[in-house]
Amino acid sequence: MCGIVGFTGEKPCAVSVLMEGLCNLEYRGYDSAGISYFDSQGTLTTVKTQGRLDRLQAKLDQIQPQSCCGIGHTRWATHGEPSDQNAHPHFTEKVSLVHNGIIENYQELRQFLAEKGYSFSTETDTETAVKLIDYFYQGDPFQALRKAAQWIEGSYAFGVLFADFPGHIYAMRKDSPLIVAVSDEGNFIASDISAVLRHTRRYHLLSEGEIALVMPDRVTFFTIEMDPIEKEVHTADWNIEQAQKGGYPHFMLKEIFEQPEALQATISPRLSHGLPDFSVNGLENGFFREVDSIHIVACGTAMHAGMVGKTLLEKLARVPVEVEVASEFRYRDPIFSTHPLVIVISQSGETADTLAALRLCKRSGVPVLAVVNVTGSSIAREADYCLYTYAGPEIAVASTKAYSVQIALMYLLAARCALDKGKMTEEEGQQFVKQLQEAAAATADVLALSDRIAVYAQELVPIHDLFFVGRGIDYALALEGSLKLKEISYIHSEAYAAGELKHGPISLISEGVPVIALATQPALLAKTVSNIKEIKARGGQVLLITREDSPVDPSCCDHLISLPNLDPLFMPLAAVVVLQLVAYHAAVGRGCDVDKPRNLAKSVTVE
Ligand code: G6P
Repeated sequence: MCGIVGFTGEKPCAVSVLMEGLCNLEYRGYDSAGISYFDSQGTLTTVKTQGRLDRLQAKLDQIQPQSCCGIGHTRWATHGEPSDQNAHPHFTEKVSLVHNGIIENYQELRQFLAEKGYSFSTETDTETAVKLIDYFYQGDPFQALRKAAQWIEGSYAFGVLFADFPGHIYAMRKDSPLIVAVSDEGNFIASDISAVLRHTRRYHLLSEGEIALVMPDRVTFFTIEMDPIEKEVHTADWNIEQAQKGGYPHFMLKEIFEQPEALQATISPRLSHGLPDFSVNGLENGFFREVDSIHIVACGTAMHAGMVGKTLLEKLARVPVEVEVASEFRYRDPIFSTHPLVIVISQSGETADTLAALRLCKRSGVPVLAVVNVTGSSIAREADYCLYTYAGPEIAVASTKAYSVQIALMYLLAARCALDKGKMTEEEGQQFVKQLQEAAAATADVLALSDRIAVYAQELVPIHDLFFVGRGIDYALALEGSLKLKEISYIHSEAYAAGELKHGPISLISEGVPVIALATQPALLAKTVSNIKEIKARGGQVLLITREDSPVDPSCCDHLISLPNLDPLFMPLAAVVVLQLVAYHAAVGRGCDVDKPRNLAKSVTVE
């Protein structure tokens, strides 16, 4: 959360490069935006404003700055309301700084600095960081950063300009992501590579406690003790087209429609002789043989993918699985069995709570397997094993294709685990993989229902409350459908296990209350249909999502969406597409900012 970008080059294009970078990073927060730059006289200037980038652009249009070097920030507010004053960069006469993270001891630092004569004009934790660096600055930026790092507690990725060093960007990080990207036209810092993909795909990963000095023609890295370091250059496998809307009105719709391709890209490299095989990722066949319990830890949509994973792993491999939100797991002193495995799932690979849970497990000596979409992210680097999902960049804040590829990996992992434990034969495994591939391809048929779903979603435009119900694996889907809808359309919704409705929430069902019922599992169909009848009897308006071959009387519901007849275990891949499209079309109908819903950020790097 919060996006950082910086550029230094020979040409006076820094302001447009920064604005473009911030635009690509807006998914990390959009409460305010700002830039600091050296103007053509080498003077350090800051322009910032509450609100989105168009407001910052309007301010810049009045000044038309010419600059070869600057830093920029797009904010997701933590300490201090979104305001011009609290917007980054924060600056003194000598130093300007952008920050992603939280300075936990900022009150202590503030008091210390106040005693030294500093005054404060914002409510932010970041202002203490820039003033602390200013306090330590005696002409040597490295020494100032180094000393500040010894005092600051919490998480940070900093981009820093010193007025005495035009054209130089300093960067430092702890527990918040930052990369240094390089190109022939100049060099960059950024929260992630998507910010600068138009200019380069080559980047260095800045590690914890390292300091980078970025200049127009070279970048250098140092340890906190000031020893120089040689760093590997990585090449991003994402390209600029993937990070653009490609003719779709919103990134979210584009990403929903990319699912068949993303699934294929994630599944295919993990197959050998028609069976799941992760040996290229260091998980030799037989890896799961001894595993006697699994904890799946994640946040938000990734946690919902974990819930589908639990059903699959328990059903196929008969291994007990617990799924937990990372922010709870890390504080509850989890009990581990003799041969446990922790699976963390994260699109961004930077979610602070998930990362903290991972570190807790590693400290306890428990092996951690990460399922991550962003190459080189912190979670990917710190886990013992990492399986990448190949969804490509996901820009919309609401996660769609990343969820589908996460569950695709859950299918493959569950089958591998079942094979290792002798609960599945190779023939069964091959049949399972074939069914998974068919299900992945069938998502294209569900996408073809988009217009029909849009018509249904119009009915949701004026409503205030909605319920999702389902049993078994459909309950996990109901949770995801509900999250998606509330995230982007701001319609209040709740997801319930269908059988649980009568234990309380049914009191909220009255004339016209919409309910989306998932009944994709033949074995549970009759029970869910009974629950639907209970809802109908109280005036609820039901959309039933089921299989084409379901023997249901269409009159039991108000709307019916029939899905391809896949093996029941694979129905989530098809059903989730309907839920994503319902949320998308409802949000569009309500005039919501689909890709950038209020108060949210895609990459939550604070706890
Ligand atoms: C945020 C996003 C969600 C996402 C969650 C976990 O809350 O808005 O869409 O599911 O973080 O993110 P991760 O990157 O760890 O999957």
